[in-house]
Amino acid sequence: MLEFSSSSLAVETADTPCVVVGVFDQPFSGAAATIDRASQGALTRLRDACDLTCKGGSSLLLHGVSGVRAPRVLLIGLGAKADFDALAYQRACYEAGKALKHLPIDSATVFLPELEVRGHDAAWRVRTAALAIDHATFRYTATLKSGNGNRAHLKHVEFAGATDFGDALKQARATAKGVEFARELGCLPPNLCTPAHLADSARQIADGHPGVGLEVLEREQMRELGMGSLLAVAQGAANPPKLIVLQYHGAGQARPYALIGKGVTFDTGGMNLKPTGSMEEMKYDMCGAAGVMGAFLAAVEMKLPINLVCLVPAVENMPDGASYRPSDVLTTLSGLTVEVLNTDAEGRLILCDALAYAKRFDPQAMVDAATLTGACVVALGKHASGLFSTDDALANELLDAGTQSLDRAWRMPLWDDYRNQLESAFADIANIGGKSAGAITAACFLSRFTEGTRWAHLDVAGTAWDEGRKGYATGRPVPLLTQWLMDRSASV
Ligand code: BES
Ligand code: MN
Ligand code: ZN
Repeated sequence: MLEFSSSSLAVETADTPCVVVGVFDQPFSGAAATIDRASQGALTRLRDACDLTCKGGSSLLLHGVSGVRAPRVLLIGLGAKADFDALAYQRACYEAGKALKHLPIDSATVFLPELEVRGHDAAWRVRTAALAIDHATFRYTATLKSGNGNRAHLKHVEFAGATDFGDALKQARATAKGVEFARELGCLPPNLCTPAHLADSARQIADGHPGVGLEVLEREQMRELGMGSLLAVAQGAANPPKLIVLQYHGAGQARPYALIGKGVTFDTGGMNLKPTGSMEEMKYDMCGAAGVMGAFLAAVEMKLPINLVCLVPAVENMPDGASYRPSDVLTTLSGLTVEVLNTDAEGRLILCDALAYAKRFDPQAMVDAATLTGACVVALGKHASGLFSTDDALANELLDAGTQSLDRAWRMPLWDDYRNQLESAFADIANIGGKSAGAITAACFLSRFTEGTRWAHLDVAGTAWDEGRKGYATGRPVPLLTQWLMDRSASV
């Protein structure tokens, strides 16, 4: 992870391997104007020669600019000032990170936080810059022989150009840690990232933080509790299931917030086996779990004054002689029975028992995150997570947190109209709702297990990883959930 610090250095005299400066298409302002003046018009000449386009997303690296002490000046195009908004700012920071990643330098001084962004203060600008640069410089190395040789040189980023950062750097460090935790786990292949490995990762969080407790429930304990649904999904797998329960006490007797994450470490579909081409990405089917654990870690690192419970049902969904079958009827922890009409709709079957269990902690609100449905990807693509809630206030809190953190969600309906799609003749409820509105009927299914509690569901199937051979886990929804928890602690 990158180290972050703040600096009050001036751009022309900063003693650093590289200064990073934003440039609007015209006229030059702020640090760019200072450099142009100090260099007797070097930037103006580059713009006149069209080497410097200033387009959003562009960058240009200069060496040995006269009048500037730093040996490198990295210019980041910002586009037109009138169009410059929060997303353009984040993109500029991300581009800076991508360019810095390839340079043979271990630190840089970034002047992007000097830029005004409508509706956001300096603390937000620093936080956003730190997270975007950390995101851009992340590299997965866990299973590469070249390992360390692959690491970026960059270790340290200094932020300049704003005066009052408040707690922003502390918050950025904690959030970046949570995001990286989630990305590492998400990227790890399923032969290594098993339910037991998720439990070990939770153990690392607990061991590293005095206020954190961990309990891992084994199959036998889950059986005694009556988690027939969670156990059914796990029964075809050689890797045994775990129910991970992390607890953090930062606020005396206050009712906790609960985060619940889908931890399917590999989803073959079970007896309803997925076809070729749809299976290999299912190592990411534990990204909901990684996301809630990452947000938990971020909250604990920030020492937020709240109580928090993080629950992860961790299983593998495999076909086997012992597997559960389509048409099996399961008895859930809540007592409701479920007819399994498709063993590939397994996420809701582990979450329903985890949600029923979460209620026992009497949470003031509970939020689950899950790579739950392909239908959500069809509806919203990779830009927004699907948000479902029966509680308007909670839904709005989460939407706001998504807007603030640029980890956005979009609300979908959870009307009773959809409920009859889950009817069954042989159980209280079926686990699939037919062709239409798949993301909604999945959320409807979960809602049957959360009655009486403020609850929201985030379907992160489209947002939790970038597709393609070189796609990584994104760490979403860690920024959204962390922002939500920060907002909750500020509102007490
Ligand atoms: N993990 C998948 C959802 C998924 C699919 C996420 C593709 C990302 C990309 C989930 O367990 C699943 O298989 N859902 C089924 C539900 C269906 C059987 C009702 C789906 O979405 O096809
Ligand atoms: Mn599935
Ligand atoms: Zn799944």
